[in-house]
Amino acid sequence: MQSLLAGNWKMFKTVREAELFARGLVAELDIPPDREVVVAPAFPALCTVAAVLRGSAIKLAAQNVHDQAQGAFTGEVSAGMLIDAGCEYVIVGHSERRALFGETDALISRKLSAALARGLKPIFCVGETLAARERGATLTVITGQIKEGLKNIDLGDIGNIAIAYEPVWAIGTGKTATPEQAQEVHAFIRNALQDAYGKELAGELRILYGGSVNSGNIANLMSEKDINGALVGGASLDAGSFSEIVKYKEV
Ligand code: PGA
Repeated sequence: MQSLLAGNWKMFKTVREAELFARGLVAELDIPPDREVVVAPAFPALCTVAAVLRGSAIKLAAQNVHDQAQGAFTGEVSAGMLIDAGCEYVIVGHSERRALFGETDALISRKLSAALARGLKPIFCVGETLAARERGATLTVITGQIKEGLKNIDLGDIGNIAIAYEPVWAIGTGKTATPEQAQEVHAFIRNALQDAYGKELAGELRILYGGSVNSGNIANLMSEKDINGALVGGASLDAGSFSEIVKYKEV
């Protein structure tokens, strides 16, 4: 299994900044063969970055997608448009979308279906808040998000999804889950997937960790058995730190 290292640029970088940054990555990033690297610029920069990445090993992702194929949905972007712009992946259900834009499990489920129907590979985000963790509800929350999110997905499509476990309390806060805390949830997710889809398919699904990943903690996180990659926010905005993350050495 190739590990998946994805940079979520959020609402940072103008088109020109994204273009220059992507050029730098293409020129200098040395990607080990057992790894897949993805970057997710904001919508306006997708086509420009796609042109820069063409022919390189770095793949393009969008940060969001609408659940309908087309229509009068002012301000929204469809899966077909993202494919057309050169995306292979799309981030779905990020905690910022859930918390700040009211995305529900039901909407996220429809977005996953819409993405898969057009051949976009979703990076499906789940994660508990600090309040949920403190009341001991982490695994209940994760179970609900996964069950609801995946409930209408055909078995044949499951293999195209990567799940990103991102504890909300670790995103942008500098507080990373310890590798053990992350592994506990990742193993739980793997077991839940195994119960639902069988051992073989569950074993092939990549489960990424996200939340204050940086060049200093990536190696320990990636050494855990069920951590198959990372979704990186802040540290992916800097070429040096993103490159070190991509080149992590397992400990
Ligand atoms: P962070 O963000 O690495 O800045 O914590 C991760 C994410 O939101 O995907």
